[in-house]
Amino acid sequence: MYTHAVRAPSIRLARPADLAAIATVHAASVRALCAGHYSPQAIEQWLAPSPGLYDRMLRSSTVYVAERAGRVVAFAAVRLATREVRAMYVSPDATGGGLGLRLMQRVERVARAFGAAELRLSATLNAVGFYERLGWRRDPRDAGTRPPQRCVAMRKRLT
Ligand SMILES: CC(C)(COP(=O)(O)OP(=O)(O)OC[C@H]1O[C@@H](n2cnc3c(N)ncnc32)[C@H](O)[C@@H]1OP(=O)(O)O)[C@@H](O)C(=O)NCCC(=O)NCCS
Repeated sequence: MYTHAVRAPSIRLARPADLAAIATVHAASVRALCAGHYSPQAIEQWLAPSPGLYDRMLRSSTVYVAERAGRVVAFAAVRLATREVRAMYVSPDATGGGLGLRLMQRVERVARAFGAAELRLSATLNAVGFYERLGWRRDPRDAGTRPPQRCVAMRKRLT
């Protein structure tokens, strides 16, 4: 009778012990979900090993993971000092169930509590519709590229 509660992923702050799982989710998510918008070469360049990448992310950003049955299936990162969402990735087998929405709501909540009036991010081409659905808007002031992949600069007012 509590099946839904047991299966629904729970969201918590990431810990150093999550870094390997975060790397796994990142690679699987990019390879499966961004493939329609980027060439295989662009994707492999994007995922090229960058020693210390996730460790630096954990130190510089507030990072949340979503866990289902003890497994990390999504993560999001926001750098509060610069009001920037740095990462938002859901495992291919966990998409379409509102997890991205829940993680972004958590990110927006912590940013508001921090005093941020606005957040910005660089959206991958495949994710622009997702962010628009959540109230984000394209930023006309920004060229919208962040190597290695083509991105769309977006902003959202929090107040
Ligand atoms: C984009 C992503 C985070 C969405 O995660 P998700 O858990 O599947 O999204 P949700 O189920 O919470 O969707 C929330 C809403 O957005 C919509 N949505 C989700 N992905 C969408 C997309 N790519 N385009 C348009 N709308 C989308 C859903 O239909 C849902 O709308 P509804 O409330 O009307 O049903 C996920 O597909 C992903 O990780 N993609 C690959 C990594 C990536 O590109 N990340 C962004 C980097 S900037």
